[in-house]
Amino acid sequence: MNRRRNNTAVAKLQDALLRFYREQGRDLPWRRTRDPYAIWVSEVMLQQTRVETAVPRFAGFLRRFPSVRALASARERAVCEAWAGLGYYRRARNLYRAARLMVQELAGRMPGDEAALRRLPGIGAYTAAAVASIAFGERTAAVDGNVVRVLARVFALPGRASAPGLVRTVRAQAQLLVDCGQPGDVNQALMDVGATVCRREAPLCPSCPLGRWCRARREGNPTAYPGRKAKLARPILRIAFAWCQRGPALLLERRPLEGLWPGLWELPSASGPRAKHELGRRLGQAAGPRLARVAHELTHRHVVASVYRATTARRPGQKWWRDPLAAPLSSLARKAIVAVTGDSDR
Ligand code: ADE
Repeated sequence: MNRRRNNTAVAKLQDALLRFYREQGRDLPWRRTRDPYAIWVSEVMLQQTRVETAVPRFAGFLRRFPSVRALASARERAVCEAWAGLGYYRRARNLYRAARLMVQELAGRMPGDEAALRRLPGIGAYTAAAVASIAFGERTAAVDGNVVRVLARVFALPGRASAPGLVRTVRAQAQLLVDCGQPGDVNQALMDVGATVCRREAPLCPSCPLGRWCRARREGNPTAYPGRKAKLARPILRIAFAWCQRGPALLLERRPLEGLWPGLWELPSASGPRAKHELGRRLGQAAGPRLARVAHELTHRHVVASVYRATTARRPGQKWWRDPLAAPLSSLARKAIVAVTGDSDR
């Protein structure tokens, strides 16, 4: 009897989620395809990039690399360039490595289940479950912070968002919800509820498809779930950029393939607490007056970059660019150049 009642409750939540997804789910480009490769690309883009940023970049990436084979036969540098602006370039390099593995070992096909996807570089538990459920219909729950928030509220589960006990309980509940004929739709419905309705700060409870069953709502305090942890201040990374101009051309250099912004172009730079001094040492003469200062947020660091006028000869790895904003720039370098020129058309 108890079991029947539980199953009915699960079925109601499933129905509500699926109806919400049909009627109010977001119209996103990767939801118009059934191509597992395209779905994989979208899930990797969405790992650390907001939906609004990924949407305009998705089609362009697929045009440039329309299949596993096309991606595998590209140059790594070209893949990183196509990723410019999305950040976390390790994702682009892992996509590329995974595509090459698929060509070498799987005749260019995507693995069709969660366990095999999980073994590929750059595919963690969440991405494997998302791709397996959306592209292959596997009944497996994709649980991220959004889903933890939604289900912690629906079931009024105690604990901080990252507490292993809470995540385990949420995963078990989510697994019951995806145990149906449209697991990919249930996962994506939960993602949409988390992103558009069950928002962290100001949830729109009256519009929520799960509102009727939500215990946190009934308690009148939905934002109390999940519990919060104290925020740590991010350390500051200081960067000094050199603004070396020759007529209309600007000197840029390519970043190494390791580290931040791999293979992208930027102004010649130095970093550290004495970045300006270091830059002078690199250039062989003291950096000139400051032309601009920009701030930039990375996951673990707060970057403060200053741009100094300088003169120097071109060295290996550097190039004069007449139209520097047309170069595949790191997002920080683009910000810095725009701060100096005031030209923000691109
Ligand atoms: N975030 C991660 N995967 C997503 C998807 N398929 N749709 C919307 N947001 C997502």
